[in-house]
Amino acid sequence: MSMQGLIPYGYIIASVLFIYGLKMLSSARTARKGNLISALGMAIAMGATMAYAGMSYHWIIIGGLIGSAIGAFAAKLVKMTAMPEMVGLFNGFGGLASLLVGWAEYHGGRASLDLFTVIAIFCTIVIGGVTFSGSLIAYAKLAEKLDGKPVLFKGQQVLNGAILVGLVLGAVLFAIDPAGMYPLFVLMMIVSLILGVLLTIPIGGADMPVMIALLNSYSGLAACAAGFVIRNNVLIVAGSLVGASGLILTNIMCKAMNRSLANVMFAGVGATTSEGTGYKGEANPVSPSDAYLILEAADSVVFVPGYGMAVAQAQHVVRELADLLEANGTDVKFVIHPVAGRMPGHMNVLLAEANVPYEQLVVPEDVNPMMSTVDVSVVIGANDVVNPAARTDKGSPLYGMPIIDVDHAKTCIVLKRSLNPGFAGVGNPLFFNENTRMLFGDAKKSISAVVAEFKE
Ligand code: TAP
Repeated sequence: MSMQGLIPYGYIIASVLFIYGLKMLSSARTARKGNLISALGMAIAMGATMAYAGMSYHWIIIGGLIGSAIGAFAAKLVKMTAMPEMVGLFNGFGGLASLLVGWAEYHGGRASLDLFTVIAIFCTIVIGGVTFSGSLIAYAKLAEKLDGKPVLFKGQQVLNGAILVGLVLGAVLFAIDPAGMYPLFVLMMIVSLILGVLLTIPIGGADMPVMIALLNSYSGLAACAAGFVIRNNVLIVAGSLVGASGLILTNIMCKAMNRSLANVMFAGVGATTSEGTGYKGEANPVSPSDAYLILEAADSVVFVPGYGMAVAQAQHVVRELADLLEANGTDVKFVIHPVAGRMPGHMNVLLAEANVPYEQLVVPEDVNPMMSTVDVSVVIGANDVVNPAARTDKGSPLYGMPIIDVDHAKTCIVLKRSLNPGFAGVGNPLFFNENTRMLFGDAKKSISAVVAEFKE
């Protein structure tokens, strides 16, 4: 069989490896291997594509070397906490690459395009353009190069709707006479770029991870459309996988926040804040030595990390405290809420960095039913994900969001710097419960002080 004849088999093997790798990414234990398997799939897909006759190898090698160098540098230099904006940028360039494929195919072959290819080119440039400019805005907001607050103005949705209608009309004209519509084609690319900006600016910085998951999905759809343009099966398969998994992740994030996608995209959450609204009462502050005495006497402890643990970079001292407690005969677990922190898997990444064993990580559904038997729950810089108002207060924006029932433990120790609200901007009655003890201060400093007491 000729090299050309082997290409489809290479693509099939690559597609199977992509699917298998993706499945392994769904568990922290197998994720590393999943990444490697998917990378192997990509290497096979690239090798098979190289076997096509008439390739300009020199351009491919130059592009590959530049891209690999940038990727390797970025992976080494970018901090774990800056991962969402890096993913945002990668999505954007994926969208741009698809847009350029669509443009190149139109530029070179516009005299002889069939209707199917014309539609695929249209989808490629529109989705690619929206993904590119939207991802740049998402990156700039997350990297604090732009103000993270939602940008809202009168008639915003009407303008977006009008642009969408304009794009559909443009698509019809383009399909009727593709060859004679070069100016319209360029206009549609520009309008798609503007639409990407308009769809992303109303989203607050803290909601941006959801938008990035959605843009990730768009970049997959753009690649899939580009696959139809150049009739490349592996691009169609890989693009659909990225598109579908991005949508599933977006859905998981919205569900965990008990918000609809429309609410995330259009409600402009974060435009105003309602500092400390609602609940008032007497909080019970404790010192690190009081916290030590409570913990030292406990048979079971659950740690609930949140965004504040990431801010304080307290994961290593938390691990040290967990080790000391285990050595003291205490049963220790870490309960991870799906939207704790500011990106999917944020807490998993931090705890993995501190080498917390996988066996100690549990999900809220497993711990909540037996929380009343737990001696101490320790909340480390979490707020919204442990707010009991989500269970009871129909007026709270958090109402209905599944939370970790830390208030059901015999004692709850909350580590944070003040009584200020978290991301949702709403007060938390947990701080005033009789069984809650507030350990005020930076989480890393507070935990270090408790560890010091243990070691004395
Ligand atoms: P938050 O509700 O945002 O609360 C974090 C708390 O950490 C704050 O109340 C803050 O209180 C405290 N904190 C900050 N710096 C600290 C430090 N150095 N030491 C100790 N405490 C510190 O966090 P959460 O409970 O993790 O909830 C996450 C929120 O983000 C949810 O509302 C979720 O819907 C939203 N969100 C999540 C994601 C993903 S994918 N994870 C994406 C978008 C939005 P003080 O200022 O008093 O210290």
